[in-house]
Amino acid sequence: MLDIHTAAATPPPVIRREDYRAPDWLVPEVSLDFRLDPAATRVLARLEVTRNGDHARPLRLDGDGLVPLVVRIDGAAAADTWRMDGPALVIDLPGAAHVIETEVEIAPAGNTQLMGLYASGGLLCTQCEPEGVRRITFFPDRPDVLSRYTVRLEAGEATYPLLLSNGDRTDGGGLEDGRHWAEWRDPFPKPTYLFALVAGDLAANRDSFVTRSGREVDLAIWVKAADVGKTEHAMAALKASMAWDEQTYGREYDLGEFNIVAVADFNFGAMENKGLNIFNSRYILADPDTATDGDYDGVAGVVAHEYFHNWSGNRVTCRDWFQLSLKEGFTVFRDQQFSADQGSAAVGRIENVRALRASQFPEDAGPLAHPIRPEAYMEISNFYTATIYNKGAEVIRMLHTLLGAQAFRQGSDLYFERHDGQAATCEQFVQAMEDASGADLAAFRLWYAQAGTPRVRAAISHEPASGQARLTLGQSVPATPGQPVKQSMPLPLRVALFGELTGRVLAPEQVVVLDGPTKEVLFEGIGERPILSINRDFSAPVVVETDRSAADLAFLSANDDDPFARYEAMQQLMVDTLVVAVATGTADHAPVVEAVERTLTDPALDPAFVAEAVLLPSEAFVGDQMLVVDPPAIHAAREALRARIGTRLEEAWRAAYARGQADRYEYSPQAKGLRRLRTVALGYLAAAGVADAAALAFAQFDEADNMTDRQGALGVLANGRSAEREDALDMFYERYRGNGLVLDKWFTTQAVSTRDDCLDAVERLARHPDFTLANPNRLRALVGAFASNQRAFHDASGRGYRFLADMVIAVDRLNPSTAAKLIPPLGRWRRFDGARAGLMKAELRRVLEVPGLSKDVFEQASKSLG
Ligand code: ARG
Ligand code: ZN
Repeated sequence: MLDIHTAAATPPPVIRREDYRAPDWLVPEVSLDFRLDPAATRVLARLEVTRNGDHARPLRLDGDGLVPLVVRIDGAAAADTWRMDGPALVIDLPGAAHVIETEVEIAPAGNTQLMGLYASGGLLCTQCEPEGVRRITFFPDRPDVLSRYTVRLEAGEATYPLLLSNGDRTDGGGLEDGRHWAEWRDPFPKPTYLFALVAGDLAANRDSFVTRSGREVDLAIWVKAADVGKTEHAMAALKASMAWDEQTYGREYDLGEFNIVAVADFNFGAMENKGLNIFNSRYILADPDTATDGDYDGVAGVVAHEYFHNWSGNRVTCRDWFQLSLKEGFTVFRDQQFSADQGSAAVGRIENVRALRASQFPEDAGPLAHPIRPEAYMEISNFYTATIYNKGAEVIRMLHTLLGAQAFRQGSDLYFERHDGQAATCEQFVQAMEDASGADLAAFRLWYAQAGTPRVRAAISHEPASGQARLTLGQSVPATPGQPVKQSMPLPLRVALFGELTGRVLAPEQVVVLDGPTKEVLFEGIGERPILSINRDFSAPVVVETDRSAADLAFLSANDDDPFARYEAMQQLMVDTLVVAVATGTADHAPVVEAVERTLTDPALDPAFVAEAVLLPSEAFVGDQMLVVDPPAIHAAREALRARIGTRLEEAWRAAYARGQADRYEYSPQAKGLRRLRTVALGYLAAAGVADAAALAFAQFDEADNMTDRQGALGVLANGRSAEREDALDMFYERYRGNGLVLDKWFTTQAVSTRDDCLDAVERLARHPDFTLANPNRLRALVGAFASNQRAFHDASGRGYRFLADMVIAVDRLNPSTAAKLIPPLGRWRRFDGARAGLMKAELRRVLEVPGLSKDVFEQASKSLG
């Protein structure tokens, strides 16, 4: 049952970090017995509970929509000692330890929230983070109650030949009436949110891994039989992750089995349940015909992320949900390090930062801004955010930068040693880092408490006579909801100076820690005018403002020895040009064109890097730089610059395009880079309007032997008006209509189109027979993608806003946490002109007036309205 909230009704209660209290009762041992059936599953639970401390409070077992069919205390039915308090089961207990047994019946087939036990494509599976167990059985559903689980699963053998749960399988066998059972035992105490089960008819890709202490682990990735051939990349990534975590963090796997299951209906990416990771199939299945290079990277990154959680999350878990970034920020940092070690570190860092700027910076600048350790929530599902994950990872990265790799590793060792088997806090993580390194991290802790993206002003002055250069730095942290005044935070800024005339490094890279409102740094022996390279490798998650000229930025884009700084200089040059173009209606394109040409034609550069460096910043990112976002003007300015770069450099684009033509598909870093550059080049040729653009794109589409080239070409065609466009979209649909993950791409390609009629197309696609509100991937593919298309979504008519609000309202009836994730684009109204802002607010109000709104949507919509 959902909590019912409307603007008129009482708002949902607010949970506060400061109110944390240790649990009244612990549950060291639990046995769960499932009689599985999609329509009516019986769950029998046996909890060994112990009183925690000296108090007389009753045992409180969370429930959500559960009816207790049986309640037994120490073996006896005890009708008079328990009561329901709303959805929770409350039991008065006399002693220090008791055995509680309950029985409930649930209906997984009707569970459209995809939280708890639910059905997906013939499978039964669970998602319990953060509070799904209370939809399965009565339990203290909080992460600081750690239990050893014994799980017995029983189901019809024909439909559910596979029965999986956490830990290692200990027993099983056949039963009468075609049923069978299995028993699983997880020796590691774990919180409820890491519990999982899967029942279904799946096939496995099996392999094994020998840990560094010599233990052999059976690995299995379970998918539909037809998909087993698409699991090789995931398996390779799993084994690489296991080895990497041993080498890099000294972390070894701890069970005899490691199972991964892929499911088609999943609210987010994947879930790190102990020994039984459950994945959105888009992060497992990959083969050249159906997955792009980006999809391959996503698979490896998420497989690594979930595997790394076995230590950063499972062996050491979170005391309460305010500590979510303790596991998520650290684990994202770890998966970023892993991916950097596996592929191109430079391109990986560029992608990290692009993702941070696309999703976290806007969040930090809007009504939903929160620190990486929030102070309060109504619905914790709303806090699985880019701030907790991606900014959280940047905070860990800064610790790594400040302490150095060696001390950071010592701190991580100490953290795991101290807190193994415990539910810990962010504070304890920082304390371990401090104790191991001897560094003073008092001020650094502000990163956990303050929201908002700091702004850094940096200027360099030079006295040729004395050879002195002076770097002046200043910081400010903007006000965010509930935090009007901020303190300065320690910002580790990697800085270097280059000589304008000689191109030489005048001051090699050093880490300058801006630890107050301002700071000056003096450089000696600087014989020529220095050009400032700052926040190299994006060492701090801040916005840097400098007065560097277009010429200086062009210089850095061609000469900086830090690839990220090189990319960044080019981006800044492009952004500056576009902002001027939007403000004045015209801008000098030449510096950008020249800088792009130099990068594009530099034979020493990795094509993968070139492809990233020559891309224009997104319309949304340009909008983020402006006081009032003008979507059509930004679109026009960006398209004009694209066309200019395309036209002026036509020959270079044709050369890059030809260079990317491979005889046949190969999965290697070099081949990936060339493919990426090839489609970027195709996009510029199309932007230039060259006569053969559509023909080139169609040929690439039609002849492709891999999805990267095929989807890349389709995307270019989809932005245009050629006859080939409709043919390609139809062909793509016919070829892949049976493959949900690829069909998602077909929806997304049309939803992110730059065409004028994109909004019409999206409204039409929402009525397409293959569109469904029930599958979160499909919803994100159409609706989520559309909301990121700044010009189309912000159509002056307000139709884009109405479309999104209609979707929120419809999805909320099925799946509140997924509905709530659609709201943030409407909450950005403060950044738009009065007419748009009014239309956006009206839609938020309309959502809030819906009777029976979930607390997920209520929280996001009410906060967004401000
Ligand atoms: N812990 C999972 C992961 O990061 C994600 C769980 C997301 N849960 C949610 N309610 N949004 O891998
Ligand atoms: Zn995670």
